[in-house]
Amino acid sequence: MPNKLLLVAAENERMRGIVSQSSLTRGIVHRFVAGEQDHEVIAVARRLTGTGLRVTIDHLGEGTTTLEQAEGIRDTYLALLSSLHAADLAAAAEVSLKISALGGSLPAGGYDHAARLTHDVCAAAAAVGSTVTIDMEDHTTVDATLSILDELRTEFPWVGVALQACLRRTAADCRRLAHAGSRVRLVKGAYAEPASVAFVSKREVDDEFRRCLRILMEGDGYPMIATHDPKLIEYTLRLARDGGRGAEDYEFQMLYGIRENEQLRLAANGYRTRVYLPYGRDWYAYFMRRLAEKPANLLLLARSFKPG
Ligand code: FDA
Repeated sequence: MPNKLLLVAAENERMRGIVSQSSLTRGIVHRFVAGEQDHEVIAVARRLTGTGLRVTIDHLGEGTTTLEQAEGIRDTYLALLSSLHAADLAAAAEVSLKISALGGSLPAGGYDHAARLTHDVCAAAAAVGSTVTIDMEDHTTVDATLSILDELRTEFPWVGVALQACLRRTAADCRRLAHAGSRVRLVKGAYAEPASVAFVSKREVDDEFRRCLRILMEGDGYPMIATHDPKLIEYTLRLARDGGRGAEDYEFQMLYGIRENEQLRLAANGYRTRVYLPYGRDWYAYFMRRLAEKPANLLLLARSFKPG
């Protein structure tokens, strides 16, 4: 399970300053983040799609504090979608976004701002033939995120959403969203959650992932299985085989920089595989969650501080 101390550090402003401003962390950050600018992420997207992978690009940033910032993030997504179109990548590349980045956590009218700005991004994606998937943040945001999803889907039925197997409510959410045309990205969950709403042991979360996966794979929607866990990938392949689900009726998803050989192996074997490709200056919280998932990554970080 994610390391709790590192997840707390992910929310800490002082740590953000120390880690973000150290030029020494740059090397390891680049293992997980595709760069800070549009042209850098487009170059990585071109390289990955050239190998048969698909990508979903996330402009990093969350917990936006002003409406101007949220509108700026919306504009960044519009520019990104236009660059993807110009680079002829819009079919193999979609975008992922966070409701809190688009204003969801603003104290006044956050929900309405996020719904409007997310709608703008979906309209731009539709115009270039791309799609959008909404990330899921901590458990306090799930109801608002799913409600915005429902509104968006009336106009853009292809909008996807991430659901976190660690949450006790998720099996019910999977059942509600396992209908035709619905795109659900199943993840284990990367936030520190209280036991009142979440399973806390790794075994429980893995068991719940299997349960949610069965619901999605036996349903009529389009499951996006977002895990690096070899046992769960194997289990997905078994469920697809047993249920007669074709390789074009679901996809695997993994994070940029993690198990890259496995990503290529799955794609080479004919399984749709999409890489989640984050970019942007505000990489701190994303980066800390990746460290929290695998504390061995801290060794890479420690080595990057050594001279020579
Ligand atoms: P698990 O953590 O058990 O890892 C299995 C194996 O994968 C490890 O043994 C290791 O080999 C490798 N691995 C996993 N993480 C690693 C890391 N950081 N560094 C190096 N190796 C690593 N979460 C969330 O709460 N909301 C969201 O919207 C999303 N979105 C999302 C999209 C996509 C495409 C993916 C793949 C993941 C997310 N996540 C997420 C993150 C997710 O919740 C989870 O924290 C990570 O995927 C790690 O869990 P695994 O399923 O890989 O299993």
